[in-house]
Amino acid sequence: MHVPVLLNEVIDGFSSFKEKKGLVYFDGTFGRGGHYLKLKNLFKIEKSYATDQDLAAIKYANQNFAEVEISHENFFDFAKKNTNKIDMALLDLGVSSPQLDQSDRGFSFMRDGPLDMRMNQNLQRTAAELINECSELELFKIFSDYGEVQKSAKVVRAILKDREIQKFETTLQLAKMIERVDGWQKKGFHPATQYFMGLRLVVNQELEVTEQAIPLLIDQLNDQGRLAIITFHSLEDRIVKNLFNESKLGFSVYKKVIVPTDEECKNNPRSRSAKLRVFQKGLPPEKPDKFALRRLQRL
Ligand SMILES: C[S@@+](CC[C@H](N)C(=O)[O-])C[C@H]1O[C@@H](n2cnc3c(N)ncnc32)[C@H](O)[C@@H]1O
Repeated sequence: MHVPVLLNEVIDGFSSFKEKKGLVYFDGTFGRGGHYLKLKNLFKIEKSYATDQDLAAIKYANQNFAEVEISHENFFDFAKKNTNKIDMALLDLGVSSPQLDQSDRGFSFMRDGPLDMRMNQNLQRTAAELINECSELELFKIFSDYGEVQKSAKVVRAILKDREIQKFETTLQLAKMIERVDGWQKKGFHPATQYFMGLRLVVNQELEVTEQAIPLLIDQLNDQGRLAIITFHSLEDRIVKNLFNESKLGFSVYKKVIVPTDEECKNNPRSRSAKLRVFQKGLPPEKPDKFALRRLQRL
């Protein structure tokens, strides 16, 4: 199962809706509905829309949450055509625990499976196709620009050489090759971590989709509506932070990014890199005028 991350913090992020009725909720990354389940019990949600690009999540939602209008698509595709105004919107980016744990989805460098990494099973291009078909420069860009690997040249050269003899088909085939070429630099940090992250981001176009969807979702919020976004990757968080700061339609609810407590990180190690930002549409509350009283006293 999937343990929802930063759950209390997401609830706090929507606390301005505590007393409101008839709320419209949008969950762009429904997963197993962990966040939704708690939110629907705490807030007076009248209508829920959701998307997930994974067929397994859609099946689960249809079986367990009949009241949610969920569609099997990317949240960007939903946002492009949505005409409903939204009060509360949540994007909990990245992969779910079931996706990571099922070896046949090909996300994990710890479990052997096909080198797939598609969240949406209808997508054409798998990670294996990128590894077997991309040019040297394209591979280098995937690992440095998306995976943030500082020195990937040796691994890229090894991919080009190895694939001449045998195509890459499985996760462990790639992970073991990276381990052989780069070796372990940091205890507890598998050398394939960032390479796999880069591939996953490119296979699913995750950064591009998030960057394009946020302005649309902000636009679709009601006045005082809120958009909460949880990221697990520094590049994703930078996109969210910049778009929230640049938007003329509202403001960031918290000055500082929200991260999990030590206790949450201990209980759920997958939450360790999570970051939450919350945006509110409309004008920010007026700051108290510290000098107003003094001016009055002078009169
Ligand atoms: C971290 S999980 C969400 C878990 C969920 N909040 C819960 O508590 O169960 C991310 C989910 O979002 C989906 N997803 C990721 N990016 C997406 C996108 N751009 N559009 C639609 N679904 C997406 C994944 O398939 C996955 O099921």
